[in-house]
Amino acid sequence: MNLIYPPSDDSYLLSEFLENYLKNLKDKNITYLDMGTGSGILAETASKFLKKENIIASDINKEAINFLEKKGFKTVRSNLFSNIREKFNLISFNAPYLPEDLREPKDSKILTTGGKKGEEISVKFLKQAKNHLKKKGKIFLLISSLTPKGKINSFKGKIVARKKLFFEEILILEFSN
Ligand SMILES: C[S@@+](CC[C@H](N)C(=O)[O-])C[C@H]1O[C@@H](n2cnc3c(N)ncnc32)[C@H](O)[C@@H]1O
Repeated sequence: MNLIYPPSDDSYLLSEFLENYLKNLKDKNITYLDMGTGSGILAETASKFLKKENIIASDINKEAINFLEKKGFKTVRSNLFSNIREKFNLISFNAPYLPEDLREPKDSKILTTGGKKGEEISVKFLKQAKNHLKKKGKIFLLISSLTPKGKINSFKGKIVARKKLFFEEILILEFSN
C-alpha cells in the first residue's frame, strides 16, 4: 500500500500561489489538471474558483485516486500523461524533486524522489505537458534548490514564487506556450 503525501511546506506554497492566481483570473471558465494530486490540496483550492467538472486530479498512486474520487473529483490514475488525452488551460505539479536516497523505503520514495538526480520526473513532465496545454495555457511546477536545474532551465520557465526552508529553498516555476 502506498501512502498519500501529507500536505507540507511545498503543498502550502503552491496552494497559496494557486489561490492568488485563480482569485485574480478574469475568466474562471478554464480547465485545470492537478498532476500528482496526493491529498488533493491543490484540487480543493482550485475548486473554490473553478467548476469541479473542469478539474482533473491525477496521480500514479491508487490510494490518492481513491481518496479524490470519494471527494467527488474527476480523477485519472496515470504515470504522468500516459492515460491523459485532454488539453488544459492550467496544469500544476508539486513534483517529487529530491535526489534518490537509497535508504528511503519504496512507499515514500514515490512521493518525494524525482529520480537518481532529482530532476528526472520534472523534465519528463515538462516534455509531455506542453502537448497538453491549450493556447495561452500555463504550467506551474514546484521544485527545490536541491533539484538540479540544468535540463529544467532549457524549458525557459520563470520563477514566480520562492520560500526558504531550513535546509532548502522551494521554487515555483511558470511555463507558458
Ligand atoms: C510531493 S507530492 C505532492 C502531492 C500534492 N499535490 C501536494 O501538493 O501536497 C508528489 C505527488 O506526485 C505523485 N507522483 C509521483 N510520481 C508520479 C508520476 N510519475 N505520475 C503521476 N504522479 C506521480 C505522488 O504519488 C505524489 O502524490
